[in-house]
Amino acid sequence: MEELFAAAATARARAWAPYSGFAVGAALRAESGRIFAGCNVENAAYPLSQCAEASALGALVAAGERRVLEILVVGEGPPPCVPCGGCRQRLAEFAAPEAPVGVALPDGRLLLRTTLGALLPFPFRFRSETAVVGESALDRLREAARALSPVAGLVLGSGLGAVAERIEPVLVVEAREIAGFPVPSVAGHRGRLILGRLAGVPLLCLEGRAHLYEGHPPAALARPVRLLRELGCHVVVLASAVGSLRPAVPPGSLVLVSDHLNLQGANPLVGPADERIGPRFPALDDLYDPGLRALLHRAAGEIGLELAEGVLAAMLGPCFETPAEIRMLRRLGADLVSMSMVPEAIAARHCGLRVAGIGVVTNLAAGLAAAPPSHAETLARAAAAADELARLLVAALPELARCA
Ligand code: HPA
Repeated sequence: MEELFAAAATARARAWAPYSGFAVGAALRAESGRIFAGCNVENAAYPLSQCAEASALGALVAAGERRVLEILVVGEGPPPCVPCGGCRQRLAEFAAPEAPVGVALPDGRLLLRTTLGALLPFPFRFRSETAVVGESALDRLREAARALSPVAGLVLGSGLGAVAERIEPVLVVEAREIAGFPVPSVAGHRGRLILGRLAGVPLLCLEGRAHLYEGHPPAALARPVRLLRELGCHVVVLASAVGSLRPAVPPGSLVLVSDHLNLQGANPLVGPADERIGPRFPALDDLYDPGLRALLHRAAGEIGLELAEGVLAAMLGPCFETPAEIRMLRRLGADLVSMSMVPEAIAARHCGLRVAGIGVVTNLAAGLAAAPPSHAETLARAAAAADELARLLVAALPELARCA
């Protein structure tokens, strides 16, 4: 990697880019171990310029080499200076889909590590699922957020990753790369932060969430939403798989959370108070912001989506409830039940974010359906409903950004 960087950076310093001012260097490791580098070469017919990757590939082929094992591009960012669609195809003539592709900043920091196969289906963007950034990920996220100014946060629970795929990513960070960030351990929760745009709105999506039942300390669950606030978001949309206590609201429905019953026996604000973040004793009236709910109802109406409202009971898990507990919850006024969302909602309100909660009904709660609930069912149903959730978000986000 160091050798590749040195070669690409040297080539970049020689780039001919008087029209765009955007100098790029690329280095390719050939099968023989030799490294070939190139830079971009512009001309007055600017769109017909030669990319750095193409220059490097020309040198490699002219030297009689035929296999490219590794690719590194050096350019300004963020966003990462990824190979263009043409160069992806050029490289594919000589490199396997598994060939690693790195994109580094001129100062040597690696911004993106992916593979050629992951880049290929797209002309310019990169597929978020394979983007990985290395050390000091939080610094890079802060830097990229300063440039993008995300207005909204989006937290996606079980099986809702398809929504994340709609985001045009600018930077993707693995949760495990951020010190102190609670990393999900459950199937269906990716544990990534995607900074990018959805429906043109700059946002930060937390794909996959951590739960109390995984053993995370309650206070750790405040960290993701506080990060959203720190990075400039004003609004957060929390989406979770939920069980429905109302047979009239079947699996596949989307339900706006209007209020909650916190029966988890835990609260993310327990511990020393930090008044810089929020008050010691926050009120939770209208926690699920009425203005955002009205906005989401309007957006749902515009796209012909039925959107119920209901009270969410939050249980610790990881067991699904007993039928007797569900009967109890019904009497207590719950319409939905889940093992998540509530700690984040509390922490988000506490640090000043406006909160919307969307339950994605994955099952009828215990005792209400012929078969008992299961995680496999939760994931499958959530995945099936993710498109509807994405449709709703795309319809709502532009207005949501305005009210942020
Ligand atoms: N109970 C608790 N959490 C859930 C359920 C449920 O039935 N479905 C999805 N998350």
